[in-house]
Amino acid sequence: MQSFTGEHILSVNQFNHDSIQKIFSVANQMQPYALRQKRTKVLDGAILGNLFFEASTRTRVSFGTAFNLLGGEVRETTGMESSALAKGESLFDTARVLSGYSDVVAMRHPDNGSVAEFAVGSRVPVINGGDGSNEHPTQALLDLYTIEKERNYHGESIDGLHIAMIGDLKHGRTVHSLSKLLCLFKNIRFTLISPKELAMPDSIIDTIENAGHQVVISDTLEGSLDADICYQTRIQEERFPSKDEANKYRGKFRLNQQVYTKHFQSNTVIMHPLPRDSRADANELDNDLNLNPNLAIFRQTDNGVLVRMALFALTLGVENIVSKYDTDVHWYSNKK
Ligand code: CP
Repeated sequence: MQSFTGEHILSVNQFNHDSIQKIFSVANQMQPYALRQKRTKVLDGAILGNLFFEASTRTRVSFGTAFNLLGGEVRETTGMESSALAKGESLFDTARVLSGYSDVVAMRHPDNGSVAEFAVGSRVPVINGGDGSNEHPTQALLDLYTIEKERNYHGESIDGLHIAMIGDLKHGRTVHSLSKLLCLFKNIRFTLISPKELAMPDSIIDTIENAGHQVVISDTLEGSLDADICYQTRIQEERFPSKDEANKYRGKFRLNQQVYTKHFQSNTVIMHPLPRDSRADANELDNDLNLNPNLAIFRQTDNGVLVRMALFALTLGVENIVSKYDTDVHWYSNKK
């Protein structure tokens, strides 16, 4: 079994089937803390350096929340302009300095490979919160954890899954990382739907095919798909040379109840890494799906806290002693 203690989490390539099951098992144990049924102080005194050099809501806040739920404290750096990177400091120097102030670092940066470069200079474990269009390993883990839970609910496993990925598959780092993780399972069918210019990179398709899985590629959503999961993505306008360029694709693949009923099964699970672009000219995941029980987007965000708690517990080597530091919850809580 792979040991996580003291290790960086930079890419999904570092996981195997067993290590994923280990992360998911620890994540399951985190549920009572996330639901505020009990508290733990296992990371009392530990400090997370939460460095987000690119916009984020859920990854940044859920990393912080996960660390707080384990009893640790969080120091935030947000935005390139508010750090010395804007004065020309290297990622190596920044890492040497900030890792002296923290026990673990979570980091997002707009450049591919930047988090791995930072990790070279870090004296503490670094967790990749997204580097350019390259990878988003913790999102892929929480997506996979969600898929497993949704499948288990219907008495099925991840093996044999048919997933339709829709939208900007070129720049969407979440679909890159998730595709690679799914390759660790058996008989996965991928239906990849995107404008031709925003197709899944060949390197990812090669990885899928070399692992023996089936890939169908299309630039239109047509016919009836027997997909178990519809994984919708956002046009990643921040990765385009200009907003005008991104606008060419905005609103191209909209999912609403009518489109869902036409192309998917009545129990197809709808996922999206979020944020969904809800502006009128995009409306990529319509509000009319909000009450659809198959819409799993907020189950994904809740699961993100569990998975990130598990990664902190594992990288800091406390996964087996979390409950030893339990205390009671004294306030009203009605989380489900
Ligand atoms: N899914 C995701 O990475 O969301 P944020 O950009 O809000 O962190």
